[in-house]
Amino acid sequence: MSNKKKYAGFSSVAIHGGHSNDPKHAHLTPIYASSTYTFDSAEQGMNRFNGTEPGYIYGRWGNPTITEAEEKISALESFGLVNEDGSNVQLKTILHSSGMAALSTLLLANLKAGDKILTHYSLYGGTQELVEKILPPLGIEAIIVDLKKISNAEEAINSDASIKMLYLETPANPTIQCVDLAELAAIGKRNNLIVAVDNTFATPYLQQPFLFGVDYVFHSTTKFLNGHGTAIGGALVGKDVEKMNTHVTKVHRLLGANSNAFDAYLLIQGIKTLEVRMERHCHNAMEVANFLEQHAGVHKVNYLGLTSHPDFAVATKQMKHPGAMLSFELKGGLDAGKNFIDKLQMCVRAVSLGTCDTLISHPASMTHYGVPKEKREQYGISDGLIRMSVGIENVQDIIADLEQALVN
Ligand SMILES: Cc1ncc(COP(=O)(O)O)c(C=O)c1O
Repeated sequence: MSNKKKYAGFSSVAIHGGHSNDPKHAHLTPIYASSTYTFDSAEQGMNRFNGTEPGYIYGRWGNPTITEAEEKISALESFGLVNEDGSNVQLKTILHSSGMAALSTLLLANLKAGDKILTHYSLYGGTQELVEKILPPLGIEAIIVDLKKISNAEEAINSDASIKMLYLETPANPTIQCVDLAELAAIGKRNNLIVAVDNTFATPYLQQPFLFGVDYVFHSTTKFLNGHGTAIGGALVGKDVEKMNTHVTKVHRLLGANSNAFDAYLLIQGIKTLEVRMERHCHNAMEVANFLEQHAGVHKVNYLGLTSHPDFAVATKQMKHPGAMLSFELKGGLDAGKNFIDKLQMCVRAVSLGTCDTLISHPASMTHYGVPKEKREQYGISDGLIRMSVGIENVQDIIADLEQALVN
């Protein structure tokens, strides 16, 4: 039995949630490196297959280390949330080999040819390519509108009965734009749409989309949940536990999108420090944003904690802190951007985000290379935009590195 005790604090759940005591008394959940599981008898095998006896059968279908990571994430996404009848919100998480695998399960388990997805500008580049290039030949199309203007959602839904899913990413990668979860989830529910949210940038510590009645949350666990850049992974979290345990599980298993015990083990250890890491990440990001905003070489800073950010109000409403991600445009565009990146001494030149160290990337030439320039610019991704995942180093060292790299 895993640990489903009720704790007063998020950190206690992050550390103890989902944990089962090991029969051999190992302190940490072991890495179950086994592709298959044994049966004591033919009858036991039959009962495991027909579901009358719980237990593991085959590694692609599940694994005890993976189960602990899944239960921990469910416990965090539902932390403190109650249903209308006062009962605790129950969620089911399925761990995947990557964020994109979790997204694929979400889409293929819920949509069919002829269905449409309503979504917004500035999605993660991979998500954008998936919905614009891979899904249309399967008969599933995306309608992309500016969902910051709420009336656009109503208008799109009213004019197209094929829209089945409202797909939101907030804050979005890489522009850090936010959409209003409460308003959009309510519109989605009024119109019987499936509402799904990519919660990767915020993590359940900063934002809990299930509070607003959404159906699914998905994470690239590669980022802040793992927190140390040690494994690629994804989590799909659903509130229809019955559907998650049946149809969605079936799709996940048949797609072969399973995680593995080692990556799940790394994820479990990473999640334990989520609260303390996010507090420090957010504190550092605010200081870095303040520094950049007053720097003469910087044209514009996009950080949700700055009142100058157009989404400051909506972020403040739905997030505990403004997160660790920021982007900024240097005066001097592309050349200034490349020059700046080349001069960094401590901050790391790399894509990805959510690690302990500060990562700095250039979306136009890296994550959004596949998105045509005019489309990128429509989403706010200019040639000179620099993206920063602010780490948990000493903030004075981060600022000192930026300062020396900003000098021409
Ligand atoms: C917001 C967001 N969603 C999804 C993904 C895809 O996740 P993964 O790389 O783990 O497949 C990423 C990756 O950067 C991301 O930033």
